[in-house]
Amino acid sequence: MIHHDVIVVGGGLSGLRAAIEAKRAGVDVAILSQVHPGRSHSGAAQGGINAALGNHPDGHDDTWEKHAFDTTKGGDYLVDQDCAIQMAKDAPRVIYEMDHWGCPFSRFEDGRIAQRPFGGAGFPRCCYGADKTGHYLLHTLVEQAYKLQVKIYVEQYVARLIVHEGVCQGVVAYDMIHGGFEAFTANAVIMATGGAGRTYSNSTNAVISTGSGMFMAYHAGVPLKDMEFVQFHPTGLFTTYILMTEGARGEGGYLINGLGERLMEKYAPKFMELAPRDITARSIQTEINEGRGIGGGGYVYLDLRHLGAEKILERLPGIRDLAIHFEGVDPIEAPIPVVPSQHYWMGGIDTNVDGATSMPGLFAAGECACVSVHGANRLGGNSLLETIVFGRRAGAEAARYLEGLTEKRPNARTAFTAAQLMEQKVEELGAKTGSQDAYALRAEMTVAMREHFGLFRDEPTMKAGVEKLLSIKERVKGIGLRWTGSVFNVDMIRTVEFEGMVDLALTVGMGAVARQESRGAHYRTDYNTRDDVNWLQHTLAYYQPDAAGPRLDSKPVTLGPFELQERKY
Ligand code: FUM
Repeated sequence: MIHHDVIVVGGGLSGLRAAIEAKRAGVDVAILSQVHPGRSHSGAAQGGINAALGNHPDGHDDTWEKHAFDTTKGGDYLVDQDCAIQMAKDAPRVIYEMDHWGCPFSRFEDGRIAQRPFGGAGFPRCCYGADKTGHYLLHTLVEQAYKLQVKIYVEQYVARLIVHEGVCQGVVAYDMIHGGFEAFTANAVIMATGGAGRTYSNSTNAVISTGSGMFMAYHAGVPLKDMEFVQFHPTGLFTTYILMTEGARGEGGYLINGLGERLMEKYAPKFMELAPRDITARSIQTEINEGRGIGGGGYVYLDLRHLGAEKILERLPGIRDLAIHFEGVDPIEAPIPVVPSQHYWMGGIDTNVDGATSMPGLFAAGECACVSVHGANRLGGNSLLETIVFGRRAGAEAARYLEGLTEKRPNARTAFTAAQLMEQKVEELGAKTGSQDAYALRAEMTVAMREHFGLFRDEPTMKAGVEKLLSIKERVKGIGLRWTGSVFNVDMIRTVEFEGMVDLALTVGMGAVARQESRGAHYRTDYNTRDDVNWLQHTLAYYQPDAAGPRLDSKPVTLGPFELQERKY
């Protein structure tokens, strides 16, 4: 058994930033990560991070108030306004801190941090490092973590929480290198495991984005919030769904349909290609569904040719490489075939503005958490910001929580039993002949999510989707392991996590059926308007061990200075 004051699960941006803050508060902190932190999915983020710095020639009048307003409107008013205000206020200081720590942001001629326009924003406020912003931020924080001697355990798959008398006291992790499960006790645990994109078959996300932090918290009794709101990025590569950054449109790229038209003229005449993601993704899908994809097919073009080679090479070199290698298209010479692709999870573990959950000792930050600053639709550039702002806040809050504790000794017996339970579970899975194939079932679930809970939803389609998920959940009981080796048993990880992924999928499905309105990313053809009278509320999903799906509840949205209005772009 290993002990640290604070354990952070996940080595991406929010996990690293949380650990750094806790360490700076004098706390003994360790990160447990399935991959080396430098390989976390945060590194795939491309286009930038929002902050009202006012550096752009068209952005001198930008303020944190305008950033908070755009965020609230972009989120279709399901945003808790106090939290969005806090994020927008914190943004400039965290950017300058990253800058001082050596993050190689792109620069304007006068030396200030460069900013580009991004979707749904009234001003160009997205700071960037070419189109590799996530990668640059991530490596800057990895350096800081090493500098501060944060203890980092890599190749550790965290499989369950240790909970004693309702208090989180650590985690159980599978040591991929040496084999076996180990209890890591702690007085505070910070979940920073990212999103659950891999519950969809058409995701921009890495294979480790399986929602593990969400389902561990959910299974331990912590509610998940607003899970029905799933974001589709307008431009994933047609054949692989790899992200083609919104920064490409921020730099002036066009979306072109099969008739050669700039398709956004019809849907968002003012903002055009820089409308918020929910609107842009639905517009593209409408063109495709109505036969105006390229050649009548299932994609449209992202056309960058008019930007010229110099700009593409300077500002968008990463997506150029990706388009060449994964689609066989050089954007300098030809338009890129793109399609809306699952990208981000607006919902997650219900937290307050400091990352605290309803369970003492458990905190969460980043995509696995729902504060809620994104409401029903996140604006591009607010996700990287969220990771750093709320990672920092969660780290500080966990340290404050420790100060208030009188009893700081986690219960060793509970921790030991939790590790034993995992060992047992894996033994049982290994002993099963496996009447169901875990990989075939997983594929069935990801396709069901794509087909039944995509950009356009209606009751019959969603109910049929829930039925499929329930049937999959039943059949999960029949899965076993293909391989029972003790080290690097990725088959075991994929099998163990699958049960949790199905539970998350059910929170999406059932939440979506229940919400009889259209708001942000949740668009229903049978209830196609926003209903503030009945649905201006967060959905809470509670795990029910003895039932197939969640118990749904609600809680009010925190309103503030920004009055509800119709979203027009
Ligand atoms: O398009 C992008 O570069 C993604 C940014 C984001 O998700 O915030």
